[in-house]
Amino acid sequence: EEIPKIKIIDAKNFVGKTVTIGAWLRQKRGSGKIAFLQLRDGTAFFQGVVAKADVSEEVFETAKSLKQETSIYVTGEIHEDARSSFGYEMAVSDIKVIGESHDYPITPKEHGTEFLFDERHLYLRHLKPFATLKIRNTLVAATYEFFNKEGFTKLDAPVLTGSAPEGTTELFETDYFGEPAFLSQTGQLYAEAGAMAFGKVFTFGPTFRAEKSKTRRHLTEFWMIEPEMAFMDQEESLKLQERYIAFLISKVLENNDQELDILKRDKGLLRSYTQLPYPRVSYDDAVKLLQDNDFDVEWGVDFGSPEETFLANHFAKPVFIVNFPKAIKPFYMKRHKTRDDIVVSADLLAPEGYGEIIGGSERDTDYDYLKNEIEKLGLNMDEYAWYLDLRKYGSVPHSGFGLGLERMVTFVTGEEHIREAIPFPRMTNRLRP
Ligand code: 4AD
Ligand code: MG
Repeated sequence: EEIPKIKIIDAKNFVGKTVTIGAWLRQKRGSGKIAFLQLRDGTAFFQGVVAKADVSEEVFETAKSLKQETSIYVTGEIHEDARSSFGYEMAVSDIKVIGESHDYPITPKEHGTEFLFDERHLYLRHLKPFATLKIRNTLVAATYEFFNKEGFTKLDAPVLTGSAPEGTTELFETDYFGEPAFLSQTGQLYAEAGAMAFGKVFTFGPTFRAEKSKTRRHLTEFWMIEPEMAFMDQEESLKLQERYIAFLISKVLENNDQELDILKRDKGLLRSYTQLPYPRVSYDDAVKLLQDNDFDVEWGVDFGSPEETFLANHFAKPVFIVNFPKAIKPFYMKRHKTRDDIVVSADLLAPEGYGEIIGGSERDTDYDYLKNEIEKLGLNMDEYAWYLDLRKYGSVPHSGFGLGLERMVTFVTGEEHIREAIPFPRMTNRLRP
């Protein structure tokens, strides 16, 4: 009878059976009589036990000689293992070495963060990166599921562009056959064109900001999900946003129990964030609340990290700050009905210090107003003529928002720093590996 080749994650279905698993050796300990092999195969982590008395001398010698990150086929019987959180282990009967490994740099001792990220191509194999990036994967899959269910069409925005809708100070410029081009800061303007064609669309791709600020929340390359909805006002958009966030968190709770345990993330707290609605506070009231709590802020400034942290913690939930000053927001945001100093916008702030996860607004629909705003900013009108066309041919009310995927990953996983939330982070001081 042929021995089934399985994945560690499926061990529970093979208790009492002999199976083969392709795996890497993470760590090893033992004595003259027994070797405990810590194994991983990309689906989960568990232990293989090699008892000298039960295997050939050759197999026991092989087990003892294995080095960290050697790849092997291990064969043996699956047993329940009440002592491990995974619940199963293998009584190993045979080992075949596939690829040797020597002097693996990430030894079991403590290493500094810079070193670990210099070795990111290998560091991906370790527990915390594994758990974090599995959760990222769930968020990506859940995003498609959610927007498909809600009737959206995925619309891919270009990465090379001529426009700078989020401001010109953070642009990566590149040479495009002799003319300047920029790496996209946002897919939004393209999403707006898409919404006029498909009704409800979302873009999902890499976006770039030459952020000089070195903070634990900023990457120079990050992935953004940007839904854009025709015939939807800001109120309807906020409802969609909170439904989306609650859906993402529920999916992680449903699918990533093992990973949340590895990261020691408080699941009760995460579950509390699936309770809707999220509170809404006007920018005006947020400023007052901050001032009442001894923050040195004045109306008109953008909030920094301490202010965002205070506001979301105050409500112990993600909180929408709505209607920001016009002067600190991009040109396309809809003017307020009764006040000309604010725009119909909202930022969603995550609790526990994870900061702004969503930025969005209703969009202004008036051709002349937008043309004038673009002129005032000194932007090249040639680059925005196509965008203004959207206000010329059947302009409709529409709203949209952008979720920073890595901000969301950091929030859900409880990671301290955003560099953990993307396989190969790009920051001011990091372009490699
Ligand atoms: O608030 P932002 O700049 O909004 C936009 O780009 C709009 N065009 C979105 C839209 O309405 N379609 O960015 C949106 C989100 C932020 O809330 C944050 O989560 C994330 O993108 N973000 C960053 N994430 C990592 N590193 C950075 N440097 C980021 N800048 C923004
Ligand atoms: Mg923003």
